[in-house]
Amino acid sequence: MAKITLYGATGTIGARVLHEALGRGHRVTAVVRDPARCAVRSAAAVVRGDVLDPVSVAEAAAGQDVVVSAIGPGTDDPAVLVNAVKSLIGGICTLGPGTARPRLVTVGGSGSLRAPDGSPLWQAPGVPEAERAVMHAHADALDFLLTVPVEEVRWTCLSPAALIEPGERTGTYRLALDDPVVDEEGRSRISTEDYAVALLDEIDRDAHAGRRFTVGA
Ligand SMILES: NC(=O)c1ccc[n+]([C@@H]2O[C@H](COP(=O)([O-])OP(=O)(O)OC[C@H]3O[C@@H](n4cnc5c(N)ncnc54)[C@H](OP(=O)(O)O)[C@@H]3O)[C@@H](O)[C@H]2O)c1
Repeated sequence: MAKITLYGATGTIGARVLHEALGRGHRVTAVVRDPARCAVRSAAAVVRGDVLDPVSVAEAAAGQDVVVSAIGPGTDDPAVLVNAVKSLIGGICTLGPGTARPRLVTVGGSGSLRAPDGSPLWQAPGVPEAERAVMHAHADALDFLLTVPVEEVRWTCLSPAALIEPGERTGTYRLALDDPVVDEEGRSRISTEDYAVALLDEIDRDAHAGRRFTVGA
């Protein structure tokens, strides 16, 4: 059983991560901006917190095994994604070194994965500008994480497939590092439920410290 602090538990992906974590017997604390508006499952503790404030992050992370961030920008400035990882790392780093610091697992974006020509997907032609801005921000957040030595914070970033949407929990998936996982028809896709399975498997196995990886059906 791991003690997990989860940001973004009210979101589409975060809700599935919460469900999968509770199903495995982990103890989850959901950190939300407004507990009064929050309808997360009763098995989780719910506390108020601000992912953008390192002091608040340190309070929420103290004594925990893993911090998970599944936050998304919504209609806010996509730069919140970069600011959030900086705040998460900064907050965790104020805790004692070594085992006193929880691991950090972030929900990334597919935009930093490589196209066949080696360029990041966020630069691909035809991507709507609003979507491109979020993809680019996720790539910037990953670039920041890549500057953080695992001796400082044991971090991992899991990029979803290009298409991720609620669906079936099959319990099966395929992993890759920097290239999208595609099916026989060339589609990069995963259900949010199977994404959550892969993320919780990473929490349980700690197999990708200090790097990004991706998952697809
Ligand atoms: N193919 C892809 O690469 C792909 C596809 C989909 C999603 N994603 C990424 O996956 C992540 C989650 O996506 P989603 O669809 O689950 O998002 P979502 O449904 O929009 O949920 C976003 C969550 O982030 C929280 N949040 C937003 N701003 C916050 C802040 N400043 N402080 C604390 N919490 C904040 C929200 O909390 P409140 O309840 O307080 O608003 C909510 O729980 C996003 O980063 C998204 O970009 C990637």
